[in-house]
Amino acid sequence: MRFCSISVAFAIAIGSVAGSPASFFNSGYLARDAGIEQRHGKAESYGPLKASKATPPYWLENIAHNGESSHLNASDKTSYTVFRNVVKDFGADNTGKKDATAALQRAISTGSTTADRASGRLGHTTQPAVVYIPSGTYLISATLQLYVSTIVIGDPNNLPVFKAASSFSSNVMLNGQDPNHPSLGMFYAGIRNVVFDTTSVAPGRNFSALDWTVSQATQVNNLAFKMPVGSAHTGITCQNTFYSNLILNDLVFEGGAYGINFPNGIQWAFKNITTRGTKVGIKTVGAHVLVQASDFRDADVAIDGSGVQASLTVLDSVGVNVGTFVLAADAKGVSRNNLIIENVKNPGRTVVVGLMPVLLGDVVGQWIRGPVFADGKTTYQPGKLFNSARPAPLLVNGKYFTMQQPSYQEFGLESFVNVKTVEGLAVKGDGVTDDSKNINKILKQYAGSKIIYFPSGTYIVANTMIIPSGSRIVGDSYGTVISGSGKVFSDAKKPVAMVKVGNAGDVGVAQLSDLFLTTADILPGCKVLEVNMAGTKPGDVGLWNVQYRIGGGMGSKVRTNCGGSQADCLAVWGLLHLTPSSSAYIENMWGWTADHDLDGSLPQNIASGRGALIEAKKGTWLLGTSMEHHVLYHYNFQNAENVYAGLQQTETPYWQGVQPNTLAPWPWADALAPTDPMFKNCAANNTYCRMAWMEIIYNSKDLVLYSASDLAYIFSPGTQTNAIDVKGNQRVRLYGTNTLHFQNIFTGDGQVLVPKQNGSAGGFEMDSVAGYFEG
Ligand SMILES: *[C@@H]1O[C@H](CO)[C@@H](O)[C@H](O)[C@H]1NC(C)=O
Ligand SMILES: *[C@@H]1O[C@H](CO)[C@@H](O)[C@H](O)[C@H]1NC(C)=O
Ligand SMILES: *[C@@H]1O[C@H](CO)[C@@H](O)[C@H](O)[C@H]1NC(C)=O
Ligand SMILES: *[C@@H]1O[C@H](CO)[C@@H](O)[C@H](O)[C@H]1NC(C)=O
Ligand SMILES: *[C@@H]1O[C@H](CO)[C@@H](O)[C@H](O)[C@H]1NC(C)=O
Repeated sequence: MRFCSISVAFAIAIGSVAGSPASFFNSGYLARDAGIEQRHGKAESYGPLKASKATPPYWLENIAHNGESSHLNASDKTSYTVFRNVVKDFGADNTGKKDATAALQRAISTGSTTADRASGRLGHTTQPAVVYIPSGTYLISATLQLYVSTIVIGDPNNLPVFKAASSFSSNVMLNGQDPNHPSLGMFYAGIRNVVFDTTSVAPGRNFSALDWTVSQATQVNNLAFKMPVGSAHTGITCQNTFYSNLILNDLVFEGGAYGINFPNGIQWAFKNITTRGTKVGIKTVGAHVLVQASDFRDADVAIDGSGVQASLTVLDSVGVNVGTFVLAADAKGVSRNNLIIENVKNPGRTVVVGLMPVLLGDVVGQWIRGPVFADGKTTYQPGKLFNSARPAPLLVNGKYFTMQQPSYQEFGLESFVNVKTVEGLAVKGDGVTDDSKNINKILKQYAGSKIIYFPSGTYIVANTMIIPSGSRIVGDSYGTVISGSGKVFSDAKKPVAMVKVGNAGDVGVAQLSDLFLTTADILPGCKVLEVNMAGTKPGDVGLWNVQYRIGGGMGSKVRTNCGGSQADCLAVWGLLHLTPSSSAYIENMWGWTADHDLDGSLPQNIASGRGALIEAKKGTWLLGTSMEHHVLYHYNFQNAENVYAGLQQTETPYWQGVQPNTLAPWPWADALAPTDPMFKNCAANNTYCRMAWMEIIYNSKDLVLYSASDLAYIFSPGTQTNAIDVKGNQRVRLYGTNTLHFQNIFTGDGQVLVPKQNGSAGGFEMDSVAGYFEG
């Protein structure tokens, strides 16, 4: 997503909130509810790793913080510190007695001796900050302001509490959007392991804990919101402008008027949202919204999706004592939103349209409203039950498997190794030195016995970084960058993995979180991440908040040398390859080839070949993922089996279909792989046909892909010809597929199956298919 010229039609349908049953917001509710209790160690097995006695503080507090921002100017770099402990380094009071606002803000804002992070002068990618919040209570009296590339992390063993003072001066406790960046260009921010407590603020005030007007590669995770029962408070809102992020997950709300209230934005996956006594659990607009594995109790409305404009999908969720579970707009209205309700337990009114209940009680299979393609034709379903079975390898207790990002909170400091402090195996993470040899030795040496911490910095790898079985790797979020470089990755016809998780057939554990993957140079033979390993159980192999950036940031020749023809900038072969023997859980991943320069204004005419190639068979989970601006395809399923996706977002390169003579597979035509599209369905000179596929699904089985948007930002006269091509599949199901500016939503080996006219015309100029059933 870029930050300008997004001219999407945008209108919110005003749905009338259905009447609620008797008020259940009796006093004493907060006291008896356990949903917000602080959590201690989870009973997970880590193979041969033994959890030490989880004695606070959290390991992150005391591990050596010898990271850096590798690509800051030399004068700033020496005085810049990535890790900040708000108590030890900034004197924030954590007893709840003294106002901590100023100290917390200083911890967030402090930059180098010459510039504050607030100034924007330190760049977008070059001012990473990890703001660590030890346990305790922090009294806050004015809005805390985040800046780009900040992550706030509390002690997960005893969640710190941000307590709003009764005299709070403004209406939001924490604002996520850096004022230096438009919300659509506001990447890289996060917050996790914190309780927001608004119970001292007057209940009648229009008050929000968190404003999260940010875009991709951001995270909110493991937060709790404690609001007065019956109050007008909101947990998370986005009051700033239009924006585009992917996922919000593992959140608990208690009391208040809204848990989440999003009046702006494009898409979200909401995973594992719990609300207790919150009047409206989630109220949201957006083109496509997924709510999964969520639990709403004592609410007027669990999910108010009456402003969702293309598709709303609800999976594996529960309502107890809920007036209306899903509130939707009339399908004829401005929203025309498609609905997919699957595996929902709710004893009462499950779907209400306007004021009219249209679905009561539990839903076992899929209840679908909208166009459904099945048996070779599209039929509009006004609300019909289907009973399409879910692939068993994807399920745990009947639900799609999900897993919270591991915090390793059960482990003491002695279980961790800082990759920059291993005797005899120097690793620099300085953006210059090739660290691959010693990183590989360290990973091998400690596989199965230690968790490896990569402090902030750019780790150049001139050879494949090999992640063996038994690896758990944690970075400093937006600060820790693995960056490929060198001849090994130069041959477009012989791609080599930059990061390789196991070898074909390996079974074991490999978990990676809070890492950035990029390249320091133009590397046509660089396959950025290849996963070969499977676990013995779901989640053994997993990626959480592993993000990509190809070009667009300091420290890469892709940023500086790609101002000319795209043919001179075959930046990478592709981003992600899930090979046949792999089984991985992936949550929150943005596969971005830069369409603009984050750290300046250099032109970024980049042709990276491919997004995700998925050949995996044993169980794959893709939750909150996106692939943007790749030349040949974004998601390519080939002989894949047992794949679940919850939210997929794709965008074609902005130059395709606009600049002359950029017809795909150009500029990759000389180096196509057997799994690549040939574009033989397109005339040689057909500009709008020769553009990246958004999805290719060939010879695959048991795919369940929920809530996608495929976007082509080419404006008049343009619409891209094709979005998704399918061929030879069995039991492939897509639910909630939404396209922007495409002639054809689905083609079968290049022949039209579902033209845009067969979708419903939703808001955001989207054409939407509620269900696609093949085989
Ligand atoms: C870094 O130095 C260059 C060259 O002196 C200058 O143009 C640039 O503005 C500096 N960047 C920052 C973030 O200060
Ligand atoms: C609450 O405040 C927000 C942000 O200022 C505003 O957009 C919204 O309309 C307000 N809501 C009410 C009910 O006043
Ligand atoms: C859901 O999120 C809550 C809050 O972070 C967490 O305690 C719980 O373990 C999560 N549940 C699952 C199944 O991940
Ligand atoms: C494509 O080529 C055909 C045959 O040469 C020609 O008739 C047509 O006008 C061309 N179309 C475009 C868009 O250039
Ligand atoms: C699908 O689109 C074709 C081509 O416009 C049209 O003839 C057909 O009636 C449409 N079918 C449905 C169900 O919309």
